[in-house]
Amino acid sequence: MGTTLSLVVPSGPLTLGNLLGAIRNWSGEQRGPETLYGVADLHALTLEHDPAAVRRLTMEQVALLIAAGLDPDRCTIFVQSQVPLHCELHWLLEATAYDGELRRMIQFKEKSAKQASVRSALLAYPVLMAADILLYGVDAVPVGEDQRQHLELARDLAIRFNSRYGETFVVPRAVTPAVGARVMDLQDPETKMSKSAALAAPGVIRLLDPPDVVRRKITRATTDNGTDVVYDPATKPGVSNLLSIIAACTDTRPEEIATGIGSYRQLKECCADAVLSVLTPLRQRYATIAADPGYLAGVLRHGAELAASLGSPTLARAKAAIGLVPA
Ligand code: TYM
Repeated sequence: MGTTLSLVVPSGPLTLGNLLGAIRNWSGEQRGPETLYGVADLHALTLEHDPAAVRRLTMEQVALLIAAGLDPDRCTIFVQSQVPLHCELHWLLEATAYDGELRRMIQFKEKSAKQASVRSALLAYPVLMAADILLYGVDAVPVGEDQRQHLELARDLAIRFNSRYGETFVVPRAVTPAVGARVMDLQDPETKMSKSAALAAPGVIRLLDPPDVVRRKITRATTDNGTDVVYDPATKPGVSNLLSIIAACTDTRPEEIATGIGSYRQLKECCADAVLSVLTPLRQRYATIAADPGYLAGVLRHGAELAASLGSPTLARAKAAIGLVPA
């Protein structure tokens, strides 16, 4: 079994999309220290940010990962900035990546279009992400659909570095879930549900939203013309999104769910019940874990040590291969 790694960015409170597309699929892949999960706080510096919010969200996200089923005794849980090897490898990969390929990244195009001035970190973001992955010889990266292009870049950089300087990196692959890989905004089902949307955005379910807020957001979700409950993302994006959410929460298929539901009203009730059946126990576990900052600090200290010892051999190989130290 190879190494697995995936991270979340503390750029806003985690959403149902983050849970169903990524985090929820991590708890079944805990095979000891070589399954690594955590919070990529350096990535939260790519856009205008509030330093205090980054610190607070980092700890909130670590607690949520544990509440969602990650067990520090069965995997490595760490915060990216606490393992400086990521930044060291990042620079070697900056020297491997091309400006043109970074400018072609969809997320860069979308996010830079909304900014008056663009931080160079926004352009570099997928190269740091590649460093996160290549540092540990990662084979599988469990992510949502929106990260596929960044994974392609990580693969390209690994292949290019290996062919120029000799076999150094494992070439990673994205693993996306069959259902829930792209949860859409409840108000605008043509757009991805995004953690960096406005805090009060009515179409975004946050993992720590109280139950009445979750129910209200789902009740007010945009549905489509007509009255039939059928799974067809092209013609019925709103209805299909709700069906996918139910299916992901209950481990079924959206087509199957559709056959048992007669109206939009019933669809929304069923969706709220399914989401709350996942989020209610998560919120309860979160409250216990977040109340013990000493425990969280201990988990992260241990995680950073483990990660550093796992990553150092690859970094040493890469430095030798690229010409910084004798091979
Ligand atoms: P982030 O924080 O934006 O997203 C975290 C994970 O959630 C998934 N995701 C979604 N899945 C389904 N539907 C949605 N609406 C949705 N929104 C987000 C993302 O695909 C992701 O898996 N670049 C990464 C963080 C990262 C990383 C890494 C991931 C940094 N280094 C190394 C893997 C490996 C990101 O943007 O996370």
